[in-house]
Amino acid sequence: MTSEWWRTAAIYQIYPRSFADANGDGMGDLAGITSRLVALQELGINAIWLSPFYTSPQRDAGYDVADYCDVDPLFGTLDDFDAMIAEAHARGIRVIVDLVPNHSSDAHEWFQAALAAAPGSPERARYLFRDGRGPDGAEAPNNWESVFGGPAWTRVLESDGTPGQWYLHLFDSSQPDFDWTNDEVREEFRDILRFWLDRGVDGFRVDVAHGMIKAEGLPDYTPPAEGGSMGGAAGVTAAASGVPLEPEISAEPGDSAPYWGQEGVHDIYRDWRALLDEYPGERILAAEAWVDPLPRVAKWVRPDEMHQAFNFAYLETPWNAEALRHVIDASLDAFGSVGAPSTWVLSNHDVVRHATRLSVTEANPQGHGLGPRSKGLPEYAPGLRRARAATALMLALPGSAYLYQGEELGLPEVIHLPDDARQDPTWFRTGGERYGRDGCRVPLPWEGSAPSYGFGPADASWLPQPEQWASLARDRQRDDPTSTLSLYRGALALRRSRDLGAGALEWLPGFAESIVAFRNGDVVVVANTGDAAVELPAGEVLLSSEPLEGGMLPADTTAWLAA
Ligand code: GLC
Repeated sequence: MTSEWWRTAAIYQIYPRSFADANGDGMGDLAGITSRLVALQELGINAIWLSPFYTSPQRDAGYDVADYCDVDPLFGTLDDFDAMIAEAHARGIRVIVDLVPNHSSDAHEWFQAALAAAPGSPERARYLFRDGRGPDGAEAPNNWESVFGGPAWTRVLESDGTPGQWYLHLFDSSQPDFDWTNDEVREEFRDILRFWLDRGVDGFRVDVAHGMIKAEGLPDYTPPAEGGSMGGAAGVTAAASGVPLEPEISAEPGDSAPYWGQEGVHDIYRDWRALLDEYPGERILAAEAWVDPLPRVAKWVRPDEMHQAFNFAYLETPWNAEALRHVIDASLDAFGSVGAPSTWVLSNHDVVRHATRLSVTEANPQGHGLGPRSKGLPEYAPGLRRARAATALMLALPGSAYLYQGEELGLPEVIHLPDDARQDPTWFRTGGERYGRDGCRVPLPWEGSAPSYGFGPADASWLPQPEQWASLARDRQRDDPTSTLSLYRGALALRRSRDLGAGALEWLPGFAESIVAFRNGDVVVVANTGDAAVELPAGEVLLSSEPLEGGMLPADTTAWLAA
């Protein structure tokens, strides 16, 4: 692969619980991934990113890590990991693993030691323990709320059995936040990075990379109301669609939450970058940083920090031409201003799948998920049509693109999961008010006629699969030139052969407001977000997300033409 591979890479996210199950326990595993890598090589991606497979009680699907340097028996062993990475590398696929540094599991030995130790001890100093407020310390140290709902603090019982200090958890109570001002924590994570780099990983996706440092004194903070000011790159999109965006993060740096995007996080990444640079082979860091506006996200990818940051402003942009032009410009400007590639993403394991999301007509805040009580749900076919057009647009953009497992099959969000099957802590912490993220995590269909649609040898899977999975299975799509899988394969192949990832975007004038039209190298891309078919410029059609109608580009369709 060329040097600086990450600037143009198509990176495929594997959610190990739901990708492929080799041992038949209904839960995906590393051996399952190894056995299915050939399908990803055929798809034409450059790298995979694996969500956590580390030792964990699985209270937040593995984002609650009890041992950062081992594989949970649910997923296999370190030997299985070595076999998986060897197979991926042999197929020309790089491997990025997830790193969860903001918090550990409460089952981590450090947290267990902290619980057993006294207030003020070095064991407690690795986490954020504080005395409560009020006469008996019975009130939480501040008013912060967990991202998953409910308070961000939990009180512990001291060793004499009396209610004692509180610890901070920005997520579930089983996910205590580390204190990143403590050098012991920093040293530990350097060792963890080295452990996986020595095993050959090509990089890390850094979880909650905006959250590790909290403002001095942990001041009270009330986030803006949901759907409130988002400003920046995404502001126009929120206004245009009425769809509220990530509510936690405000537009102005000075007005941000005391737990997101504090300046101190950047020192940590400079330190990690220097460590990665000691290794051969261009190992990378990719930030999950939910901050806005885009120029602020760009701070994570300054030349001495990370290589990439996820472009959530793009993910949150509705299917609206004006909003898309705006966010594409803002992305190329912001990332370009620090010499970083832009990234693009439409789906991941935390958001409603874009085959559904882009067509939902009622407000649905990020993280709330969809279920039977949700309003404004689209029909499958029109939702998929729009998603295919959106993907064809995204894969023509210069930079690096992230794909989430199953989107290449056109999988929709699974709405009708039984309540008793749901597992996301969001669902439990809000008493079922928010459905959470299970609907995008349902195990993949590989063969339409096999048990669990080929996910594994057993009939059952950890989340039940809908009957629709039979017709969407990979084997049913592989040889159908009109399938979503064929569209992805075709777009990825053209993207590679025309080097679109390394290209430059030039807007094309003269199109209606509802059209996104640009040139990237020798490819012209036209996306129709409006209701009526439009004329296409002259040129050989290289790819079209739906058949053209009498040479015209229909609604919710994207075409690529030879310039
Ligand atoms: C990130 C992960 C999400 C997880 C959370 C807490 O946002 O993507 O799945 O629940 O961090 O670790």
